[in-house]
Amino acid sequence: MSNEQWKREAARAAVEREVRSGMTLGLGTGSTVAHALDALGEALREWRLENVRGVPTSEQTAARARELGIPLLELHEAGELDVTIDGADEIDTNLDLIKGLGGALLREKMVAQATRRLVIIADGGKRVERLGQKAPVPVEVVPFGWRAHLPFLESLGARPVLREEAGEPYRTDNGNYVIDCHFEPEEGILDPQVLDWQLLGRAGIVEHGLFLDMAAIAYVAGPGGLVVLDRD
Ligand code: A5P
Repeated sequence: MSNEQWKREAARAAVEREVRSGMTLGLGTGSTVAHALDALGEALREWRLENVRGVPTSEQTAARARELGIPLLELHEAGELDVTIDGADEIDTNLDLIKGLGGALLREKMVAQATRRLVIIADGGKRVERLGQKAPVPVEVVPFGWRAHLPFLESLGARPVLREEAGEPYRTDNGNYVIDCHFEPEEGILDPQVLDWQLLGRAGIVEHGLFLDMAAIAYVAGPGGLVVLDRD
Protein backbone atom coordinates (compact mmCIF):
# COMPACT_ATOMS: atom_id res chain seq x y z
CA MET A 1 0.00 0.00 0.00
CA SER A 2 1.17 3.55 -0.63
CA ASN A 3 1.43 6.38 1.86
CA GLU A 4 -1.76 7.85 0.44
CA GLN A 5 -3.65 4.61 1.05
CA TRP A 6 -2.44 4.52 4.66
CA LYS A 7 -3.64 8.09 5.18
CA ARG A 8 -6.99 7.08 3.75
CA GLU A 9 -7.24 3.99 5.97
CA ALA A 10 -6.46 5.99 9.13
CA ALA A 11 -8.89 8.76 8.17
CA ARG A 12 -11.76 6.42 7.35
CA ALA A 13 -11.28 4.40 10.55
CA ALA A 14 -11.40 7.59 12.63
CA VAL A 15 -14.57 8.88 10.97
CA GLU A 16 -16.29 5.52 11.35
CA ARG A 17 -15.33 5.01 15.01
CA GLU A 18 -15.39 8.55 16.38
CA VAL A 19 -18.18 10.47 14.61
CA ARG A 20 -21.84 10.14 15.49
CA SER A 21 -24.95 11.97 14.25
CA GLY A 22 -25.58 15.29 15.97
CA MET A 23 -21.90 15.97 16.70
CA THR A 24 -20.10 19.24 16.21
CA LEU A 25 -16.65 18.57 14.76
CA GLY A 26 -13.39 20.39 14.35
CA LEU A 27 -12.10 19.83 10.82
CA GLY A 28 -8.30 19.80 10.61
CA THR A 29 -6.10 20.58 7.64
CA GLY A 30 -3.89 18.59 5.30
CA SER A 31 -3.80 15.63 2.94
CA THR A 32 -4.86 13.06 5.57
CA VAL A 33 -7.79 15.22 6.70
CA ALA A 34 -8.84 15.48 3.04
CA HIS A 35 -9.66 11.74 3.21
CA ALA A 36 -11.63 12.26 6.43
CA LEU A 37 -13.64 15.04 4.75
CA ASP A 38 -14.41 12.72 1.83
CA ALA A 39 -15.59 10.02 4.26
CA LEU A 40 -17.76 12.52 6.16
CA GLY A 41 -19.27 13.92 2.96
CA GLU A 42 -20.09 10.40 1.80
CA ALA A 43 -21.68 9.44 5.13
CA LEU A 44 -23.84 12.59 5.07
CA ARG A 45 -24.93 12.02 1.46
CA GLU A 46 -25.86 8.42 2.25
CA TRP A 47 -27.69 9.41 5.48
CA ARG A 48 -25.41 7.26 7.64
CA LEU A 49 -24.72 10.50 9.54
CA GLU A 50 -27.12 13.38 10.12
CA ASN A 51 -26.95 16.81 11.70
CA VAL A 52 -23.14 16.92 11.79
CA ARG A 53 -21.55 20.37 11.63
CA GLY A 54 -17.91 21.33 11.36
CA VAL A 55 -15.56 24.16 12.28
CA PRO A 56 -12.78 24.35 9.65
CA THR A 57 -9.18 25.09 10.63
CA SER A 58 -8.19 26.63 7.28
CA GLU A 59 -9.63 28.28 4.19
CA GLN A 60 -8.58 25.16 2.26
CA THR A 61 -10.60 22.86 4.52
CA ALA A 62 -13.57 25.25 4.50
CA ALA A 63 -13.63 25.25 0.68
CA ARG A 64 -13.43 21.45 0.46
CA ALA A 65 -16.09 20.97 3.15
CA ARG A 66 -18.47 23.30 1.27
CA GLU A 67 -17.94 21.31 -1.94
CA LEU A 68 -18.79 18.12 -0.07
CA GLY A 69 -21.91 19.58 1.54
CA ILE A 70 -20.59 19.50 5.12
CA PRO A 71 -22.38 22.29 7.05
CA LEU A 72 -19.95 24.74 8.69
CA LEU A 73 -19.99 26.88 11.81
CA GLU A 74 -17.79 29.68 13.12
CA LEU A 75 -15.72 28.71 16.16
CA HIS A 76 -17.65 31.05 18.49
CA GLU A 77 -20.98 29.55 17.35
CA ALA A 78 -19.91 25.99 18.10
CA GLY A 79 -19.43 26.10 21.88
CA GLU A 80 -17.51 23.02 23.00
CA LEU A 81 -16.74 20.76 20.05
CA ASP A 82 -17.32 17.03 20.49
CA VAL A 83 -14.45 15.77 18.37
CA THR A 84 -11.75 17.29 16.20
CA ILE A 85 -10.13 15.15 13.52
CA ASP A 86 -6.73 16.45 12.45
CA GLY A 87 -3.43 15.27 10.97
CA ALA A 88 0.07 15.59 12.40
CA ASP A 89 3.63 15.93 11.19
CA GLU A 90 5.12 14.00 14.13
CA ILE A 91 3.60 11.87 16.90
CA ASP A 92 5.80 10.80 19.81
CA THR A 93 5.34 7.98 22.30
CA ASN A 94 3.36 10.28 24.68
CA LEU A 95 0.94 11.28 21.89
CA ASP A 96 2.51 14.73 21.80
CA LEU A 97 2.64 16.25 18.33
CA ILE A 98 4.29 18.60 15.91
CA LYS A 99 1.75 20.17 13.57
CA GLY A 100 1.66 23.02 11.11
CA LEU A 101 3.66 22.00 8.07
CA GLY A 102 0.43 22.88 6.25
CA GLY A 103 0.53 26.33 7.87
CA ALA A 104 -2.75 26.03 9.80
CA LEU A 105 -1.23 25.63 13.28
CA LEU A 106 -2.85 28.64 14.96
CA ARG A 107 -6.41 27.84 13.91
CA GLU A 108 -5.75 24.13 14.52
CA LYS A 109 -4.68 24.84 18.09
CA MET A 110 -7.61 27.19 18.73
CA VAL A 111 -10.05 24.55 17.49
CA ALA A 112 -8.24 21.78 19.42
CA GLN A 113 -8.42 23.75 22.68
CA ALA A 114 -12.19 24.11 22.20
CA THR A 115 -12.58 20.35 21.73
CA ARG A 116 -13.40 17.55 24.15
CA ARG A 117 -11.60 14.84 22.14
CA LEU A 118 -8.75 15.55 19.70
CA VAL A 119 -8.43 12.63 17.28
CA ILE A 120 -5.24 12.41 15.21
CA ILE A 121 -4.99 10.58 11.89
CA ALA A 122 -1.69 9.82 10.19
CA ASP A 123 0.43 7.42 8.22
CA GLY A 124 3.06 5.43 10.14
CA GLY A 125 5.92 7.61 8.88
CA LYS A 126 4.85 10.30 11.35
CA ARG A 127 5.80 8.31 14.48
CA VAL A 128 9.01 9.34 16.28
CA GLU A 129 10.76 8.55 19.54
CA ARG A 130 11.26 12.26 20.30
CA LEU A 131 9.65 15.32 18.73
CA GLY A 132 11.85 17.29 16.35
CA GLN A 133 13.68 14.28 14.93
CA LYS A 134 12.07 14.50 11.49
CA ALA A 135 9.91 17.60 11.21
CA PRO A 136 10.70 21.22 12.07
CA VAL A 137 8.57 23.07 14.62
CA PRO A 138 6.67 25.77 12.72
CA VAL A 139 6.59 29.08 14.58
CA GLU A 140 3.98 31.62 13.42
CA VAL A 141 5.16 35.22 13.83
CA VAL A 142 3.74 38.61 12.95
CA PRO A 143 5.67 39.98 9.93
CA PHE A 144 6.89 43.06 11.86
CA GLY A 145 10.47 42.51 13.01
CA TRP A 146 10.48 38.79 12.16
CA ARG A 147 14.27 38.72 11.68
CA ALA A 148 14.71 39.76 15.30
CA HIS A 149 13.48 36.29 16.35
CA LEU A 150 16.27 34.43 14.55
CA PRO A 151 19.02 34.81 17.23
CA PHE A 152 16.45 34.01 19.93
CA LEU A 153 15.38 30.81 18.15
CA GLU A 154 19.04 29.83 17.63
CA SER A 155 19.62 30.32 21.35
CA LEU A 156 16.94 27.63 21.92
CA GLY A 157 18.96 25.13 19.86
CA ALA A 158 17.00 25.53 16.61
CA ARG A 159 18.08 26.25 13.06
CA PRO A 160 15.38 28.71 12.01
CA VAL A 161 14.34 29.04 8.34
CA LEU A 162 11.69 31.47 7.09
CA ARG A 163 9.11 29.51 5.10
CA GLU A 164 8.79 30.73 1.51
CA GLU A 165 6.38 30.15 -1.33
CA ALA A 166 7.32 31.13 -4.90
CA GLY A 167 10.25 33.16 -3.60
CA GLU A 168 8.10 35.21 -1.19
CA PRO A 169 7.52 34.74 2.53
CA TYR A 170 4.70 32.22 3.00
CA ARG A 171 1.61 33.80 4.59
CA THR A 172 -0.77 31.91 6.87
CA ASP A 173 -4.54 32.36 6.64
CA ASN A 174 -4.00 34.96 9.39
CA GLY A 175 -1.55 36.99 7.30
CA ASN A 176 1.46 35.96 9.41
CA TYR A 177 4.85 34.45 8.54
CA VAL A 178 6.13 31.01 9.57
CA ILE A 179 9.67 30.30 10.75
CA ASP A 180 10.41 26.57 10.61
CA CYS A 181 12.70 25.56 13.48
CA HIS A 182 14.84 22.52 12.70
CA PHE A 183 16.46 20.43 15.43
CA GLU A 184 19.22 17.82 15.29
CA PRO A 185 17.66 14.57 13.95
CA GLU A 186 19.64 12.47 16.44
CA GLU A 187 18.51 14.40 19.49
CA GLY A 188 15.23 16.04 18.58
CA ILE A 189 13.80 18.40 21.20
CA LEU A 190 15.09 17.53 24.66
CA ASP A 191 12.26 19.18 26.60
CA PRO A 192 9.22 20.14 24.48
CA GLN A 193 7.38 21.59 27.50
CA VAL A 194 10.17 24.07 28.22
CA LEU A 195 10.38 25.00 24.53
CA ASP A 196 6.61 25.59 24.52
CA TRP A 197 6.92 28.12 27.40
CA GLN A 198 9.99 29.80 25.93
CA LEU A 199 8.31 30.35 22.56
CA LEU A 200 5.01 31.60 23.95
CA GLY A 201 6.78 33.98 26.34
CA ARG A 202 8.11 36.07 23.46
CA ALA A 203 6.18 39.00 21.95
CA GLY A 204 5.78 38.71 18.19
CA ILE A 205 5.44 34.93 18.27
CA VAL A 206 1.77 34.19 17.78
CA GLU A 207 1.79 30.38 18.12
CA HIS A 208 3.93 27.33 17.49
CA GLY A 209 3.36 23.79 16.26
CA LEU A 210 4.00 21.82 19.47
CA PHE A 211 0.69 20.27 20.53
CA LEU A 212 1.45 18.88 23.99
CA ASP A 213 -0.99 16.91 26.11
CA MET A 214 -3.82 17.63 23.66
CA ALA A 215 -4.44 14.49 21.59
CA ALA A 216 -6.75 11.86 23.10
CA ILE A 217 -6.18 9.17 20.48
CA ALA A 218 -4.32 8.60 17.21
CA TYR A 219 -5.25 6.34 14.30
CA VAL A 220 -2.03 5.50 12.48
CA ALA A 221 -1.89 3.23 9.44
CA GLY A 222 1.26 1.69 8.00
CA PRO A 223 2.75 -1.51 6.64
CA GLY A 224 1.71 -3.38 9.83
CA GLY A 225 -1.94 -2.28 9.46
CA LEU A 226 -3.95 0.16 11.56
CA VAL A 227 -2.60 1.00 15.02
CA VAL A 228 -4.69 2.90 17.57
CA LEU A 229 -2.65 4.84 20.13
CA ASP A 230 -4.74 5.77 23.14
CA ARG A 231 -3.78 8.14 25.94
CA ASP A 232 -5.79 6.20 28.57
C1 A5P B 1 -1.58 21.56 8.86
O1 A5P B 1 -1.19 22.82 9.28
C2 A5P B 1 -0.84 20.52 9.63
O2 A5P B 1 -0.87 20.65 10.99
C3 A5P B 1 -1.30 19.14 9.20
O3 A5P B 1 -2.18 18.59 10.10
C4 A5P B 1 -0.10 18.30 9.11
O4 A5P B 1 0.85 19.02 8.36
C5 A5P B 1 -0.38 16.96 8.49
O5 A5P B 1 -0.58 17.08 7.11
P1 A5P B 1 -0.69 15.85 6.16
O6 A5P B 1 -1.91 15.11 6.56
O7 A5P B 1 -0.82 16.47 4.79
O8 A5P B 1 0.55 15.05 6.29
